[in-house]
Amino acid sequence: MSEHIAGKVIVITGASSGLGEAAARHLAARGAAVVLGARRTDRIESLAAELSKAGGKALAVETDVARREQVQRLVDAAVETYDRIDVIVNNAGLMPLSPLDRLKVDEWDRMIDVNIKGVLYGIAAALPHMQRQRSGHIINVSSVAGHKVRAGGSVYSATKHAVRALSEGLRQEVKPYNIRTTIISPGVVTSELPNTASDPDVAANIRKMYEDIGIPADSFARAVAFAIEQPDEVDVNEILFRPTRQEF
Ligand SMILES: NC(=O)c1ccc[n+]([C@@H]2O[C@H](COP(=O)([O-])OP(=O)(O)OC[C@H]3O[C@@H](n4cnc5c(N)ncnc54)[C@H](OP(=O)(O)O)[C@@H]3O)[C@@H](O)[C@H]2O)c1
Repeated sequence: MSEHIAGKVIVITGASSGLGEAAARHLAARGAAVVLGARRTDRIESLAAELSKAGGKALAVETDVARREQVQRLVDAAVETYDRIDVIVNNAGLMPLSPLDRLKVDEWDRMIDVNIKGVLYGIAAALPHMQRQRSGHIINVSSVAGHKVRAGGSVYSATKHAVRALSEGLRQEVKPYNIRTTIISPGVVTSELPNTASDPDVAANIRKMYEDIGIPADSFARAVAFAIEQPDEVDVNEILFRPTRQEF
C-alpha cells in the first residue's frame, strides 16, 4: 500500500532524533516528501541531505515548536516547496520527569509549551491549508503516559492526556473537511528522551528502564506509516503500542 504514502508531503516536528528521525527515514524511503523541523539544524540538514542523496525528497527548516511563527514557517515552507501538505506529525516533545514537590516549575512550563502548545501551533499552521485542500491528516504524539498516570510523571502525563483530549475534539470538528486525525501513544522506545530528565536519580532510573526494555524507534515509524497508508476513507484514530516486556 505504499502508493498511499508515496508522493505525500509530510511535515514532522522533532525530526532531529529518536521517533521523529525514524519516521522521516521510513516515510522518505517509501516515497514521501518529508519536511523536517527541529532546533538542531545541523541534525535535520544532514538528515535531509542524506535522504535526498538516496533519491528521496526532504527539506529541513529550523523550528522551535514553542514559537508559533516558526511552526507556521515550517508548514508554509512545505506548501511553498511541494504545493501542499498531506500530513503533519506533531512529534516534538520532552520528558523531564520529577516529583511535584521538587518544584521544577520551569520544566513544567517547558513541557506545557512544547508538548501541548507546540502541538496546537502545528494544528493552527496546518489546518487552514488542509481545510482549503479538503484533505489532510494530523498525527499527534501522545504516550502511554497519556493513558496512565504514575507518581513522578504528573506534568508529563498531563501534557500527554491533553494531546489526546485536543486530538479527539479535533477529530470531531474536522469531519466536514475530509481531514483524518491520529493519536499515537508509544511505550518505551529507544531515543534521546531520557536525556531530558534533569534530576540525576530520576534520569538514572529512566535510562535503566530504556536500556532494559526499550524497543527500536522504527516501531513508531511503522505505526505512523500504518495510519497514513490506509485508504482515504479509513481514519485510524488511535494507536497505542508498548514493548512486549513493558508492564505499565
Ligand atoms: N521514546 C519514548 O519512549 C516515547 C514514549 C512516548 C512518547 N514519546 C514522545 O515521542 C516524541 C518524540 O520523542 P523521542 O522519544 O523521539 O525523544 P528525542 O529523541 O529526545 O526527540 C525529541 C525531539 O523533539 C525535538 N524538540 C524538543 N523540543 C523542541 C522544540 N522546542 N522545538 C522543536 N523540536 C523540539 C527535538 O529536537 P531539537 O532538540 O533538535 O529541537 C527532538 O527532535 C515526544 O513527544 C515524546 O514525548 C516518546
